[in-house]
Amino acid sequence: MFIRDWWLRLRHVEGCDGSVLLDGSASGPSEKDAPPNLTLRAQAFIIIENLRRLVHNACGSIVSCSDITAIAARDAVVLSGGLNYSIPLGRRDGLTFATRNVTLANLPPPFANTTTILNSLSQKGFTPTDVVALSGGHTIGISHCTSFTNRLYPSRDPTMDQTFFNNLRITCPTANSTNTTFMDIRSPNVFDNRYYVDLMNRQGLFTSDQDLYTDSRTRSIVTSFAINQTLFYQNFVSAMIKMSQLSVLTGTQGEIRTNCSRRNSNDVFVLPNIENDQEGKLASF
Ligand code: HEM
Repeated sequence: MFIRDWWLRLRHVEGCDGSVLLDGSASGPSEKDAPPNLTLRAQAFIIIENLRRLVHNACGSIVSCSDITAIAARDAVVLSGGLNYSIPLGRRDGLTFATRNVTLANLPPPFANTTTILNSLSQKGFTPTDVVALSGGHTIGISHCTSFTNRLYPSRDPTMDQTFFNNLRITCPTANSTNTTFMDIRSPNVFDNRYYVDLMNRQGLFTSDQDLYTDSRTRSIVTSFAINQTLFYQNFVSAMIKMSQLSVLTGTQGEIRTNCSRRNSNDVFVLPNIENDQEGKLASF
């Protein structure tokens, strides 16, 4: 239940190497402790580790935490009613995690507009169609008020539907309310294309969502997904497979962690990686 709400987010700053799963160390706070990741649900980290234990008990320590996370994300989509797809496997787990600054630089905030999101994700090889398709991940799950109160206070973002605004002001009575709300008001628990219908009705939650319909470069892509769910599914799957192969470690790189929140050798501290993203590499199947 919780898994679907989690890896689905674009949260592996340094690529798909399980870096966000690591706890901090004496060398610095972890990637998961960086501000954009603080809303990730604690329960999801426990679920990933429980899955690892089940898999390793059955098969030995031959499946990485990053592969388990990628499969869990896919299964979350399927269990919510989305399309099934095969993911290339063979990732290994990273030994480092991103610093706070690298995390902040790589994860666009919800108040970013389409220009910022397109620029940020094009550096990782994503097209505007990929970006619109990936944003469709917001067809399920919840958000805290603080992720969108920039659109409610001091006054209504004019691109937001008035009734939607009135209801959100009730859910979030102040700009720093700790309440939460569903992200797709039409079908919050179903992985479908209604998120795009929301956008066409000016009922997208974040600036980064709604601006996809305002911006002329992405508006027609939003409409095409709103009227054709199969088209959305196809593009979502291809973008997710692309994302799940960003900067993966394979062969003798990294390790297979025996605890997803710690690297295997604790005699060496986990060092934050000061490098920025590298070119994506294909994982072996
Ligand atoms: C385009 C850049 C993105 C931004 C700016 C963004 C931002 C956010 C934010 C701010 C939240 C809510 C955090 C909170 O307040 O609790 C959230 C939740 C979520 N995001 Fe995204 N996101 C992005 C991309 C994605 C992608 C690519 C996916 C999946 C393919 C995704 C799937 C989700 C899901 C499923 C949740 C709900 C989590 C839950 O229920 O706990 N997001 N996102």
